[in-house]
This record gives sequence, C-alpha cells and structure tokens, in this order.
Amino acid sequence: MPVDLEAIHGIIEKHGYEESSIIAILQDIQSTVNYLPQKALREISKSMDIPLSRIYAIATFYKAFSLRPRGRHSIHVCLGTACHVRGGQRVLEYLERKLGVKSGQTTRDLMFTLERVNCLGACAMGPMMVVDQKYLGKVKIDKIESILKKYK
Ligand code: FES
Repeated sequence: MPVDLEAIHGIIEKHGYEESSIIAILQDIQSTVNYLPQKALREISKSMDIPLSRIYAIATFYKAFSLRPRGRHSIHVCLGTACHVRGGQRVLEYLERKLGVKSGQTTRDLMFTLERVNCLGACAMGPMMVVDQKYLGKVKIDKIESILKKYK
C-alpha cells in the first residue's frame, strides 16, 4: 500500500511537530506500509524542520524500522547450532526456493520477508521457524507448503 503525502501529514498532525514525536510518527508509517519510504522521511524532515540525517539516524537505530519494503508476513528460520543439526538449513533452502528469494529478501508480491536468526531460545524444538509471532517447532519440509498457505 503506498503512503501518500496527505496520509503522512495526517500522521504528523496526530503526533505533533516536536522532535520527540518522531518515533511515534515512524511507527505509524511503518505499521501502515510495513516500511519507511524515503518519500515519507523527506516529508517528515521538511514538515517538521528536522534534518533528514537525524531522522535516518533514528530510523536505522531501531530494529523495528525498515527502510526497505517488507512483506506482510515475516518468516524467521533458526540456524543456531541446535536447529542447524536438526535440519534448519534445509528448511531455509526450501523456503528460499519456494518463495523465490534469498534470506533477507522480500517476495515480489510483498507477502513474505524471509530472514535467518541464530537462536530463538527453543532449541529442543528445532528446527524452529517463526511466522509473524507464531513459533513453529520440529518443522518438517513437507508441512511448509500448508503452513505458508495459511498466510496467503
Ligand atoms: S538454535 Fe534454534 S532455537 Fe536455539
């Protein structure tokens, strides 16, 4: 979903023009379009009279923000040691083939962003993957397609 100037101004007005509002403004834009478009950051800078570099510093500091378009759903595959020995790499490779992206990328239809992580703290349940906030343990390759279908 594109973010237009009117929507950006609406979000700024809602939170106020003080520099202390920037995080809340960025959060609103991130949750509206799933990332922070350059156009939005430039408009915030201009409207609030805050240097663009300051806004970028905040946008890149917090992990919750992304400067690249992200999928509607995030998939994290664990490649920590315990999950790796239980087949985590095969899970990741299957997803890369199935979605047509590499780890760290987003599908063209902006449905999924695929990422690898190093440990999700549930090692006994490996291989682990997380779709959005849902933890899935003992993932089997032949079940992945039906998992993905639930999110389409
Ligand atoms: S190594 Fe995967 S959850 Fe710990």
